[in-house]
Amino acid sequence: MIAISICAVLLLGGAYGIAKVLNGITPVSTPQSDVSSDTELSVPSLESSELDEDRIIYGYEAVFADAVYTGDLVLVNREVATEDKESGLVSIYEHKNDHYKVKDMNVMLLESCMEPLNRMMDDFYAATGIDAIHVLTGYRTKAYQNELYQDNLDNTETLNTPSETAKAGHSEHETGLAIDINIYENGAVSTFDGTGDYAWLVEHCTDYGFLQRYPEDKVDITQFAAEPWHFRYVGVPHAEYMTEQNLVLEEYLELLRKYTYADDHLEITTKDKQCYEVYYVPFDTSVTTGTQQVPVPTDLDYTLSGNNTDGFIVTVHIGTAEDNAADSQISNSSVAEPTP
Ligand code: DAL
Ligand code: ZN
Repeated sequence: MIAISICAVLLLGGAYGIAKVLNGITPVSTPQSDVSSDTELSVPSLESSELDEDRIIYGYEAVFADAVYTGDLVLVNREVATEDKESGLVSIYEHKNDHYKVKDMNVMLLESCMEPLNRMMDDFYAATGIDAIHVLTGYRTKAYQNELYQDNLDNTETLNTPSETAKAGHSEHETGLAIDINIYENGAVSTFDGTGDYAWLVEHCTDYGFLQRYPEDKVDITQFAAEPWHFRYVGVPHAEYMTEQNLVLEEYLELLRKYTYADDHLEITTKDKQCYEVYYVPFDTSVTTGTQQVPVPTDLDYTLSGNNTDGFIVTVHIGTAEDNAADSQISNSSVAEPTP
């Protein structure tokens, strides 16, 4: 009986895969090598009707529990701490282009953020002719964050007032996903306030996956005063969606809890017409050692990020809006849906 069920699932998957190709969706290879589709599709939580509805074939990625604490969408704030990052950091100075400046060779950022940062600065220069953006801070160690925090307290002499510098462990700078910028022009430094020509960066940073993390109107949620100069990388679909919906990361991650794998997924179409589905997978607390299985597509690109508290967010790149429109027309007119 079990063997028959497994065969039925595999046949169904095969038929659906063929129908999908006929429907005009070009399968994109998955970046991860440890995605398992054959053996894991028989896990009961994956209903075949769900597969058909979503038009995506799912398998599982085996993920270590500590993956909850890494990725582009980790939340780090006054309540939620991060660990010191030890890998993936590069010197901005050694990887940057000529269209912006950096304080010194020791300003570090996650390597994955360098390409979007460089592209953003190239495009800012092309749009404004300004090459005065100066990256003052990137990654900070926990020890350095602690020094800053103590200095800030000493300077303000208000030990009972929340510092505008995060406590050690609670700064996004410790993730390697954040930068502070200012303006360095004619030998003088000034604060980046995002006005005038510099408003371009505020308006366009989401196109490159960056956010202004501490807006004026969300101080009650972020618990930090507005910091126009602090940019955080989260990835393009998330940055655009949050900005359109006026959500800060705290609010967005809370919203995503509604979009679980088994329910409707959040659909995001970016300004450049790329379509994404986003869903949340709670951390399985019954798994205390080894890996846990996170449902992921087997034939589409995706990224997986922890939220730094209790789950994973999977972001699936579905294709372009044009692809999907064409696909739905063909599907409606001539190609039968796979039999559930
Ligand atoms: N000033 C920001 C919140 C930090 O210390 O990371
Ligand atoms: Zn900052």
